[in-house]
Amino acid sequence: MINLNNKKILLIICGGIAAYKSLEIIRLLKKDGASIKTILTKSGAKFVTPLSVTSLSQSKVYQDLFSIEDEAEMDHISLSRWADLILIAPATANTISKLANGNSDDLASTVALASNKKIFITPAMNVRMWEHQSTKQNIAKLKSYNYELIGPEIGDMACGEYGEGKMTEPKEIVNKLKIYFKNLKIKNKLKAIVTAGPTKEYIDPVRYISNKSSGKQGYEIAKCLLKKGFETTLISGPTNLEINNDINLIKVETAEEMFQSTLESLPADVAIFSAAVCDYKLKKTSKIKIKKQDEINLELEKNVDILDYVSNHNSLKPKLVVGFAAETNDLENYAKKKLDEKNCDWIVANDVSNETIGFDSDFNEVSIFYKNKKIDRLKYKSKSEISNELVKKIIDYLN
Ligand code: CTP
Repeated sequence: MINLNNKKILLIICGGIAAYKSLEIIRLLKKDGASIKTILTKSGAKFVTPLSVTSLSQSKVYQDLFSIEDEAEMDHISLSRWADLILIAPATANTISKLANGNSDDLASTVALASNKKIFITPAMNVRMWEHQSTKQNIAKLKSYNYELIGPEIGDMACGEYGEGKMTEPKEIVNKLKIYFKNLKIKNKLKAIVTAGPTKEYIDPVRYISNKSSGKQGYEIAKCLLKKGFETTLISGPTNLEINNDINLIKVETAEEMFQSTLESLPADVAIFSAAVCDYKLKKTSKIKIKKQDEINLELEKNVDILDYVSNHNSLKPKLVVGFAAETNDLENYAKKKLDEKNCDWIVANDVSNETIGFDSDFNEVSIFYKNKKIDRLKYKSKSEISNELVKKIIDYLN
């Protein structure tokens, strides 16, 4: 489960007997690494003291909308901007009514009204108050304003009655906040697509044209992107490599399949085309095995260039498109030419005539060519280290 390290939570404590549980919420949030600021309403202060709230939260309690001291230190707008999330616990019927109607006659309601953050409300009140039509309507309004409700629960109440209206237990409230942050992290993840490996272009059911690509560099890049928090899709031609289950692996054989899978995987924030896609395919693939006495005439036609296609369709183009160039000679010229002609953002070029950094090697040495004519040279190192450096540059670029 995710922890709350470095998460900034503004806790608003209103006046209800459940306010004593807010102290436990503060303790749990602190234990989990959150940093907390608190607002104690006037009636909240009748149930818990500012001193106990400060001692537990290890930070100042804000109480008054028109306090010169508070405004000088952090005004009500800054207080709402500071927070990653606002939690109102307990939320009384009165506060719920004020928020539903946009009132702002104290610090708590003003901060909530001025907030651009997610606000969780954890109601606590007598069962009759909770079931009252006006409360029901207020809650419905708050939900439509995108407030998130936690509880209330059914049980024995402090007033001696039984029913719905009890504040949810602190542990459960904190868990709900953790789930929110976890989902937010998933939603905010950057998306990456990597193509890797060779493609096979079939002549007949048992023969094909392909190349020597092992896919190692592309797989290492995908692993590294995953490690850095990207939602990663790896579209791979046939290889002998294995990959972490958390990577969305799409296995393909032909260039056409790789092309279709790429289109289906877009949009993405970054696409890295490291696959050695066969430039040509058979014009006509025989459905049955060709026999040696048959007359053989292999007519080829060009495959679609996936990198070129994606780079030249603005509606598809990710924020960053990285192509590869595997060359045996005149590396710099060919790399620059591909950068221009394919209209991608970067070209990562390597010399495949050198066996120590060739197709099946675990090592590589590459040069990255940028649109602004800059060149970065990544000296001889493992394909995993090359990937780390490349992904670092990708993150810097996207930031
Ligand atoms: N590429 C692609 N689709 C193709 C061919 C290539 O996406 N049908 C991508 C590769 O994944 C790589 C880049 O284009 O990122 C360069 O591919 P490469 O085969 O080295 O260059 P080509 O354009 O095919 O030129 P040549 O074979 O003449 O070197």
